[in-house]
Amino acid sequence: MDIHINKSNATPLYVQLKESIKSLISHGQYRNGDRLPTTRKLAEDLDIHRNTVIMAYKALEDEGYAYSHVGRGTFVIEPEKMDKKEEIAFYNMFDWSGHLSDKLRKRISGKLLTLYQSESNPVRISFVWSQKGSQDFPIKKIQTAINSVIRNRKFLFEYTRSIGNLELRKIVTHHLHQKGIQIETDEIMITNGAQQAIDLIGRLLIEPGESVVIENPTYTGALTVFQFLQAKIIGIPVDEWGMKVHLLEDVLIKYRPKFIFTNPTYQNPTGTNMRIDRREKIVALAEQYQIPIVEDDYGSDLQISGPELPLLKSLDTSGQVIYIGTFSKTLIPGMRLGWIAASKEVINLLAEVKRFNDLCTTPFLQSIVTEFHNRGYMATYIRYLKRRLTERRDTMMKAIEDCFPPETTYIKPHGGVYLWVTVPKYIDLHSVWKDCLKQGVAFSLGSLFYLDSGGENQMRLRFAYVSKKEIVEGIKIIGEVMKEYSQQ
Ligand SMILES: Cc1ncc(COP(=O)(O)O)c(C=O)c1O
Repeated sequence: MDIHINKSNATPLYVQLKESIKSLISHGQYRNGDRLPTTRKLAEDLDIHRNTVIMAYKALEDEGYAYSHVGRGTFVIEPEKMDKKEEIAFYNMFDWSGHLSDKLRKRISGKLLTLYQSESNPVRISFVWSQKGSQDFPIKKIQTAINSVIRNRKFLFEYTRSIGNLELRKIVTHHLHQKGIQIETDEIMITNGAQQAIDLIGRLLIEPGESVVIENPTYTGALTVFQFLQAKIIGIPVDEWGMKVHLLEDVLIKYRPKFIFTNPTYQNPTGTNMRIDRREKIVALAEQYQIPIVEDDYGSDLQISGPELPLLKSLDTSGQVIYIGTFSKTLIPGMRLGWIAASKEVINLLAEVKRFNDLCTTPFLQSIVTEFHNRGYMATYIRYLKRRLTERRDTMMKAIEDCFPPETTYIKPHGGVYLWVTVPKYIDLHSVWKDCLKQGVAFSLGSLFYLDSGGENQMRLRFAYVSKKEIVEGIKIIGEVMKEYSQQ
């Protein structure tokens, strides 16, 4: 077995040993029930003290990757192989399953997400999200902004208003004016990212059993929120021009939904940019049937080609559109800052919901982003980001053409961060996905974004925060694995 440690590395040897064995387990070189080498043998082989091996094995046990039998040795556990009940009995753990809320147990299987989030998952190249912290983030400039905020005591240590810092709301207001949205500063609320915005809007508007219209496929984070709130969810299919709006009217008449949730600009997951006639039609239908629209716009600032199309909120004359924006894609996802733009009445209600949710968004972070913007860093960074995104999108499209089966199709995104790929049906994409993960390459399975079934031969690839080199390598690996899982 290929167990590696580096004696000149500052990381303790037992930690290196433990991580090396975990990596072998994840790559399938050690399987469930395999016996690990005896501590004496491994210590000899690696020329280290036996206690170091004992400590590493103990740490593996603590993390659930191994178990020991007195007199027989230490054996591997592949965590995903362990049935939950077995695991509970094995570790003598408290069984939470009977204590969870019903809606949680029904809605959140969380299996895929847990896998992505697992810290022990050795993903080297992620087309899902950044795990290591990206080279692209403007860390130095953020540091300057932080120092200035602290020096000038521009930040607040106290709680702030639920609606958010005035200065940041003014910045967002100005930004939206430039996008053709007529809005006042008191019609903006700062949130912890777009995700919280979706959650707050859902809580404000949805009663269990009420209908909500979404695009199908859609952003999973929205889908799970609406499911959790026990909404009846109606999906409208998406083609390369965005939501098929001509199917909407019948749905509005039949279900009278509480709102239409849409992500018209560089839609997650398909990357599509809703066509202008569809944008106009959806707003017109919403007005005709008096149904609010929730426009999730994570990416209109990241346009890299194609026409710039009006946001639904800019077409809204009656205050019927609730608009969501975020700094996650244009600055840093981990900053967790976004906003909602809506009529004053709606914003005041949402501020009330936010108050009992988390009181306020961290004032310190709001001040940092305000300072970052006021120094002119934001505009420069977005220009840089767009150049990078263009290169990466183009590299990814080329790599797909070179490495994926010839029948593969994809939608060219004109902005945002997602590329949606459809592979031939004869490929067992689920197995490809699993195998790629073992090789340290992650992508999102299309089925994750669908309401019910669908997407079995589709995948979402995020092209932000991966270098061109990683894109070429990662796509090549996926392409090679696809060849193995072709059921032809
Ligand atoms: C369409 C869409 N909405 C919302 C979010 C959540 O964004 P945030 O990080 O601002 O919470 C994402 C994140 O990927 C997204 O793609």
